[in-house]
Amino acid sequence: MSNILIIDDEAGIRSILKDVLEDEKYTVFLAEDGYRGLDLLNSEPVDLVILDVWLPNMGGIEVLKKIKEEYRDVEVIVISGHANINLAVNAVKIGAFDFLEKPLSLEKIITVVRNAVELEKLKQENKKLKNSLFTEDEMIGHHPSIEKIKEIIEQSAPTDARILILGENGTGKELVARAIHRKSRRSQWPFVEVNCAAIPDTLIESELFGHEKGSFTSAVSRRKGKFELADRGTLFLDEIADMSLSTQAKVLRVIQELKFERVGGEESISVDVRLIAATNKEIEKEIQAKRFREDLYFRLNVIPIFVPPLRARIEDIDELVVYFMKKFKLPSRSEPKVVSEDALELLKRYSWPGNIRELKNVIERVNIMNDEDLISAGTLRKYLPVKTKHHMNSWMYEFEKLKLNTARERFESEFIKLKLESNDYNLNHTAKDLGVYTSNLYSKIKKYGIEIKR
Ligand SMILES: Nc1ncnc2c1ncn2[C@@H]1O[C@H](COP(=O)(O)OP(=O)(O)OP(=O)(O)O)[C@@H](O)[C@H]1O
Ligand SMILES: [Mg+2]
Repeated sequence: MSNILIIDDEAGIRSILKDVLEDEKYTVFLAEDGYRGLDLLNSEPVDLVILDVWLPNMGGIEVLKKIKEEYRDVEVIVISGHANINLAVNAVKIGAFDFLEKPLSLEKIITVVRNAVELEKLKQENKKLKNSLFTEDEMIGHHPSIEKIKEIIEQSAPTDARILILGENGTGKELVARAIHRKSRRSQWPFVEVNCAAIPDTLIESELFGHEKGSFTSAVSRRKGKFELADRGTLFLDEIADMSLSTQAKVLRVIQELKFERVGGEESISVDVRLIAATNKEIEKEIQAKRFREDLYFRLNVIPIFVPPLRARIEDIDELVVYFMKKFKLPSRSEPKVVSEDALELLKRYSWPGNIRELKNVIERVNIMNDEDLISAGTLRKYLPVKTKHHMNSWMYEFEKLKLNTARERFESEFIKLKLESNDYNLNHTAKDLGVYTSNLYSKIKKYGIEIKR
């Protein structure tokens, strides 16, 4: 028996959904906005949320983020008006199960709800049955960029150097941070994580530094902060670009002096903590816009590690798919599923905005919702978001942010270099190969300052 929470500000929609779902024997809770919804999640055993993206006070996306942060296992179905499809697609990237467009088709609702509830149930069963031998921390992939990262981890882990990990959502930043901790002399001591984006600004200081009893209204007892909890271990400051400037100033002070006071306290506390920070924002832009302190950036960024997006290392997809197929294999099957050639091709052409996390979710769903041994492209397509398919080849990735002129010139120069090399730097042969006059080739070589070897 499953419990469903509906968060929508339109009373009409709430009551229709309630009727339909109660007919299907679900227990239904109703909330008219995000705050009330989160309260109910806190007090009731909710399995599934149906969430409107367009909500007063706290927007639907924000509510979704909070749900996914605090109640990982609760599935969310997002509903949106026609004008909000982009928001809805975005919601799927954040982890929503699916989205439904208004006007709502009752039949569609029932099907999607049934699927979500089933997924949820199977996930729980699978978790229970799964032996816990599978390590979460393995870093799969052999793309040169990943090899480089593994090398930096080996070299930097034994030191106490501060590390800044950059990269898009779901690329594996936390995985890198944990690997560094595990390989360090601090591995026997705690790895403490703080998600700076998830903590309201008014509470972050007490979260980081702790507080004394009575220092503010809700401080009913003395509490240790994350810096103290991480003593002798590693403190992982995640989403640092989301810290307010005043918190940044305080963190900077702690890094410089290695001591701090609890909120409302006098005693100066010193700790031995190794800092690893991460962000998915373009931190240099944040600095330019004066939203991030440059001095703090330099302090944190002793060793930078850039984790590339999945679309820039599609060669690793083969290996990742095999790995996740094994990981999510249902206990009832003897062998993991395999994907067909054309399905693999489809995976490689997809742009993966949610990176490895998204790939992992897709493979998990395929395992739970599908019983074919060999997954075809047609089947797989059902588990990819339809509206975000965007076919960019991985070699185009380096051009992604350039203007057309710059991209064209960059390409031209690289292409000429390639052809020169394969023609042993013979200008006449190269010009012929390229289908241009030698004089034309020569002027381009000068323009781009290409070195003629040999
Ligand atoms: N190279 C990899 N091999 C295997 N699993 C990976 C790899 N990289 C990431 N993962 C898995 O993908 C998921 C997302 O990784 P992680 O949480 O480290 O990403 P993140 O960069 O911290 O994301 P976010 O910015 O959203 O916090 C995790 O479940 C992680 O175990
Ligand atoms: Mg993370």
